[in-house]
Amino acid sequence: MIHGQLTTLRAIEREDLDALWRWYNDAEAMYYWAEPHKTMSREDLDGRYGAGLSASTGRAHWLLITTRDEAGRGETIGRIGYVDLDRRNRHTEIALMIGERDYWGRGYGSDALIAYLGYLFHELNLHKVWLRVEAFNERALRAYEKCGFGRDGVFREHTFLGGRYYDSIIMSILEDDFRERYPFVAPGTR
Ligand SMILES: CC(C)(COP(=O)(O)OP(=O)(O)OC[C@H]1O[C@@H](n2cnc3c(N)ncnc32)[C@H](O)[C@@H]1OP(=O)(O)O)[C@@H](O)C(=O)NCCC(=O)NCCS
Repeated sequence: MIHGQLTTLRAIEREDLDALWRWYNDAEAMYYWAEPHKTMSREDLDGRYGAGLSASTGRAHWLLITTRDEAGRGETIGRIGYVDLDRRNRHTEIALMIGERDYWGRGYGSDALIAYLGYLFHELNLHKVWLRVEAFNERALRAYEKCGFGRDGVFREHTFLGGRYYDSIIMSILEDDFRERYPFVAPGTR
């Protein structure tokens, strides 16, 4: 388990799939993933997480975000994971979602992100962590900048949503930036 100050990150268990299914089918939450009308059945979801649930598939691995609880029994509020791990170049794309809307804008996303970055830099020994965010997602942009991510560039008119194109912003943080910013952050030490 990885603990932040507000959140705990832990493996996804079978009983968590109901929450994940709800979030996947929540148009407002999925709007920020540019897939508001995605529909996912429980069967699809079970299939996706079926073999080993959150066990690593090599390039991708998801963890559940709960409210902080030493035993990992906090309230289930979101998920975070790496989605394109590149071992040779020591970088990965990550993605995260606070699925429970009541928890948006209260610091839980950035807390989970900082805790997760500690794991990625200090445990997996990565050099760079990057992500893609839609230009209209101001809350996410603010959260990522707050955590030390810088803007690397723009995928122009990359996302088609609601009948028009939007820019996607690529952001990243390097290991040295993270260590300088959060010198004491490592799993279990915050
Ligand atoms: C993006 C997300 C992970 C951020 O987590 P969070 O817990 O909501 O973010 P935080 O509270 O840590 O930080 C948000 C910051 O944006 C600010 N903010 C909140 N709403 C905002 C808005 N509508 N516009 C601009 N800034 C906003 C907050 O005040 C806060 O900044 P501050 O700490 O300087 O005051 C979460 O909101 C989420 O999952 N949203 C839905 C799905 C999503 O967007 N996923 C990310 C796809 S890239």
